[in-house]
Amino acid sequence: MTVQTFIPNGAKAASENTVTQPTHTTDVSIKKLYIETQGCQMNEYDSHRMADLLGDSHGYILTSNPNEADILLMNTCSIREKAQEKVFSELGRWRKLKDKNPDLVIGVGGCVASQEGDNIQKRAPYVDMIFGPQTLHRLPQMLDQHNAQVEKPKKDKIKLVDISFPDIEKFDFLPEPRVEGFKAFVSIMEGCSKYCSFCVVPYTRGEEVSRPLDDVLAEIAGLAEKGVREISLLGQNVNGYRGETFEGSICTFPELLRLVAEIPGIGRLRYTTSHPLEFSDELIQCYEDLPQMVSHLHLPVQSGSNDVLQAMKRNHTIDVYIDKIAKLRKIRPDMHLSSDFIIGFPGETDENFAETLQFIKDLDFDHSYSFVYSKRPGTPASDLPDTTPEQVKKERLAQVQKVIKQSSIEKTDAMLGKIERVLIEKVSDQDPNILIGTADNTRLVTFVGDATWVGRFAEIEITEIKTLNFVYGELLNLEPDVA
Ligand code: SAH
Ligand code: F3S
Repeated sequence: MTVQTFIPNGAKAASENTVTQPTHTTDVSIKKLYIETQGCQMNEYDSHRMADLLGDSHGYILTSNPNEADILLMNTCSIREKAQEKVFSELGRWRKLKDKNPDLVIGVGGCVASQEGDNIQKRAPYVDMIFGPQTLHRLPQMLDQHNAQVEKPKKDKIKLVDISFPDIEKFDFLPEPRVEGFKAFVSIMEGCSKYCSFCVVPYTRGEEVSRPLDDVLAEIAGLAEKGVREISLLGQNVNGYRGETFEGSICTFPELLRLVAEIPGIGRLRYTTSHPLEFSDELIQCYEDLPQMVSHLHLPVQSGSNDVLQAMKRNHTIDVYIDKIAKLRKIRPDMHLSSDFIIGFPGETDENFAETLQFIKDLDFDHSYSFVYSKRPGTPASDLPDTTPEQVKKERLAQVQKVIKQSSIEKTDAMLGKIERVLIEKVSDQDPNILIGTADNTRLVTFVGDATWVGRFAEIEITEIKTLNFVYGELLNLEPDVA
């Protein structure tokens, strides 16, 4: 698995494609699968499930080299225009590979597939399979259908496109997640029903649907038995979780957290991404009651201006956000807070922007994500008049990013001399006596220790700051294994 720091949100990676990492083999007879993942952690999760599925059904193993693959899958993101355009430029490269190897199978999934299935067929007719975020579990059947019609003349071939939203069926068909390391993502809900005026997610992933409670708990218990110690609960509006219990009642997100915290072996809990409106008192109370909850919260606010928030249809004011964070920090004064900001939303004035900048300073955010607004077809905001010149938007973005960067540097520097709870994840490649783990705030922490401690939690006193994401420390206390 790739080690990533500061990955608390769905927005991270539009500029950062990741390749789902293989376990290596040199056997040339084994069929190989290459997956490129764009976008959010939900997509990362989905890509891992695609690899598991095709591994189980057809024996494919992952490769990190597209040139040696038998199947190329692209799991796409359409959150901003730039991400979407990348799909077609990358597909152009894949076409050349297919020219060399006509047996190569190309599949496109994710949110661009969901929104632009027809357009992909037109612009890239060499794509063999198109599937959406909610139909990826049907990939093995799609591949069978593809293989069955390979020999047929072009005119007799049926187009393999399935971008429907068959509710939560997906999870009933996915194999148990494979475990690598001590951290795992568990998707607990799909889609979003918030319909923020700028956002495509409700259209590409569909309305919110929560997985039944027992399924989620069983998956986490299974992961804990296989050694997982840190769980990240995933969903586009994760704290809107409303999962059905086996009695037919509804389990809310705070109730779910309490149940997950009772599972033996789970020493740390994260979640992403949540909406301020559903950041309830019950959820804040979990931070007092559950030691597994990390002192790190990613709570996107998007803007520090009430006018802009209203135009974005976020349905809350800045004061609501400020009050919630004040309550949380009363319980956890050491809480690291991060957020997402959209700069240059249609109608954002100099004054609105100044409010956002001040808000970022006042709330003392840790590392946050900020983007220039990108007009998405079909969203209500795409009809709003947008007169701010691009150059002004870019300058505003640069200002915001400067403030955010400075603030996260200060957060790392402030760790010096503090005691951090660290999940020990591995032994250093360079020195067998050096261990590497992650703190609550996602910084990597290294210290001298014994390889047998990997997978346990430790209290580490921070003795030196190396970089923004990387600090040194000394062991104060090794916790007993939580299993
Ligand atoms: N449920 C997630 C949203 C996922 S989208 C959440 O509430 O965080 C991730 C981030 O992408 C959003 O928080 C927003 O900051 C950014 N984003 C979404 N649509 C955008 C657009 N049209 N232009 C620019 N940024 C956008
Ligand atoms: Fe998008 Fe708003 Fe949902 S940002 S994912 S519509 S909470």
